[in-house]
Amino acid sequence: MNTKTRPIVIAHRGASGYLPEHTLASKALAHGMGADFLEQDVVLSKDGVPVVLHDIYLDCTTDVADCYPGRHRDDGRYYAIEFNLEELRSLSVHERTDPDTGTAVYPDRFPAEYGLFTIPTLLEEIHMIAGLDRSSGRRTGLYIELKAPNWHRAQGADLSAAILKVLRDTGYDKHPERIFLQCFDNKTLRELHRELAHPLPLIQLIAENSWGEDSEVDYDYLRTAAGLTEIATYANGIGPFLPHIYRGKTPGGSADLSELVSKAHALGLVVHPYTFRRDELPEGISSFEDLLDIFIQQAGVDGLFTDFPDLLTGYLRDW
Ligand code: G3P
Ligand code: CA
Repeated sequence: MNTKTRPIVIAHRGASGYLPEHTLASKALAHGMGADFLEQDVVLSKDGVPVVLHDIYLDCTTDVADCYPGRHRDDGRYYAIEFNLEELRSLSVHERTDPDTGTAVYPDRFPAEYGLFTIPTLLEEIHMIAGLDRSSGRRTGLYIELKAPNWHRAQGADLSAAILKVLRDTGYDKHPERIFLQCFDNKTLRELHRELAHPLPLIQLIAENSWGEDSEVDYDYLRTAAGLTEIATYANGIGPFLPHIYRGKTPGGSADLSELVSKAHALGLVVHPYTFRRDELPEGISSFEDLLDIFIQQAGVDGLFTDFPDLLTGYLRDW
């Protein structure tokens, strides 16, 4: 019997270890696996519709290059915002491939060649989750990431406004217990903190500066005591990268953990690290269960983003 609060299971892009990410099928499977929250990465179409897609690009997860040859920008990439909803709906979604080699990023996952799936809008996904909640008698939350809001603004599009409209239209804006909003951009989170009529829990995602997620944010600073104190003025928690907490094994063979979780907890921030993958274990970890032991029993995180929600719900079954 564990006396700590049970961490939440966040299905990262759905049950994306089993079905292509951000498809309705992947979300339905995650719902059936008992995930507490289903993640939505959201970008806008050319006609301003919020769609559930991880990248601002279409090339790694759809057949856009075959369907719309020549519709790429000068950098060779196909941007979702260059396509209206009807065009986005015509694409087939497949398992993620490497843009340089065209091969599957996770070779043992769902075969990339089956064109069975399409891009859902945020509204469609919310309807499906609400429908499954009703038919299963369960309550499953949304965990929405606003993807590249500054980049959208530079394209003349307001991502936050479009997402908030969907939440208002579906009544989710009044249910803070059923939703998290997450973003790598702290300016957008500060705006949401100021402007939301009904406060919703906000999560500051923390990247590595080298990824170029947002050139105006210093993620190394955000992990310091001063940075976390600032986060606590506008957000309810942090979403750090897994190695920000687990730094490898000590010479004695135990887990070398940073102080990030305890520092965040001391400020009242919840900690939801990403991404727990059975087929991409950190160095020095021999099994998914060992990884969960370290983050849940030793580090004491409050929730985990995972591509394999069934393994995490199974791990937590006797909590
Ligand atoms: O949102 C948490 C985690 O999903 C952040 O990374 O790149 O998978 O969106 P990413
Ligand atoms: Ca995400």
